[in-house]
Amino acid sequence: MLAEAKIPERIQSELEIFAVNVLDIAARFRQEMEKGLAGQNSSLKMLSSFLDRPSGNEQGTFLALDFGGSNIRLIEAELAGRGRYRIRKRQSWPLRDPANAYDFTSHAASGEELFDFIARQIARMVSPAAEYPLGHTFSFPCRQVNVNQAVLLTWTKEIKTAGVEGQEVNSLLAKALERNHVRNVTPAAIINDTVGTLLAAAYGDSRADIGAICGTGHNICYHEPHSPPKGQPVIINMEAGGFANLPLTRYDRQLDMATEKPGSQIMEKMVAGRYLGEITRLIIADLVDAGALPPAAFARVFTPYSLTAEDVSRLLADNSGDLAEVEKLMAEKFGWKVPGVAERQLLKKIAAAVAGRSARLAAAAFAGILQHLDPVLERKHTIAIDGSVYEKMPGYADGVRQALAGALGGKSPLLTIALTKDGSGVGAAIAAAIACGR
Ligand code: GLC
Repeated sequence: MLAEAKIPERIQSELEIFAVNVLDIAARFRQEMEKGLAGQNSSLKMLSSFLDRPSGNEQGTFLALDFGGSNIRLIEAELAGRGRYRIRKRQSWPLRDPANAYDFTSHAASGEELFDFIARQIARMVSPAAEYPLGHTFSFPCRQVNVNQAVLLTWTKEIKTAGVEGQEVNSLLAKALERNHVRNVTPAAIINDTVGTLLAAAYGDSRADIGAICGTGHNICYHEPHSPPKGQPVIINMEAGGFANLPLTRYDRQLDMATEKPGSQIMEKMVAGRYLGEITRLIIADLVDAGALPPAAFARVFTPYSLTAEDVSRLLADNSGDLAEVEKLMAEKFGWKVPGVAERQLLKKIAAAVAGRSARLAAAAFAGILQHLDPVLERKHTIAIDGSVYEKMPGYADGVRQALAGALGGKSPLLTIALTKDGSGVGAAIAAAIACGR
């Protein structure tokens, strides 16, 4: 109570904007997606995946490469049909070496170096005697040429590797495989991670029609039954992180100005794990500046990205009476002993506002898509979601569910939200199977 009274009015009014109106945003989102579908100017890219939903009978052994921006993951997956699969091998490597020996995501690294690194890891994992069709989950906005060719439109999530934007990504991979003498692996499909998540869920659930990532990045795809110009069914990668018709706070503007690409990926910068810690830190720094929180011992509270989404999760996970974990985290991070329980409550409340807004915005987008697909909600739908924020941030999944239930009213029992882990791996294997006609 004490701490609440101390928030200056200027900051309080910014925090009020965090309580976004879900139905209002849902309507704006639907309008924007329909503009994008009709080929009009829209902040949603609405990119065709060239894939329909799987039949569920796809079978065989496939290699899946998952490239999302933080790690590369390789999976050998065996699809058994009727929605069943087995992961036979799995390995992962960071794209940025924690000891700074390499960073394939920086301006200094080239696309060739990046794909050579990937090809070398593939060579280590596969058995030389076998042949592998490869499904590639490449989680960035791409103009798909066909199921196996996609041109990177622009990097997102602060990745900067030189010489990849504007290139056809699977050719870069195929050339690197050739340079590294890997002759038994053939790229067969390239998909977005949201598409992978939807394919993985739809493999065993014919009602799955929306796939989403709420992790480091944020994006949504859905199954469009009547895609223009010919009206055929196709999965569309919306690049929902680009949605821009949103009420911004001064913290959002401040954050955006300091990013690699200001003015782009507005929704992603409000929803995704890559940015949730930074929004929280900006508010805390403002409260310190305004004298509503005590000065921190370290200037680090003013250092961009010194708070991460994992830290926000730690703030939210503390349900103890004296919020001892909040105090510990602040001491670790900022050399800061937050004196009173009231200040600790204030910190937790800020984290809850930031995470809660993210969940409500994601829910609003889902509600907008459902209104487009099924205006009076007559059918059952499954939304498949993967990603660390959805899976691990305390209260997040509940926040999405509650906001959707509020938006759908009495129709919410028709909706299932499924945490779909391994979507990018299994989904890529399914895409490769469809492409190979298996
Ligand atoms: C970013 C990418 C998008 C991807 C998402 C989740 O928004 O632009 O393609 O799906 O991150 O990884």
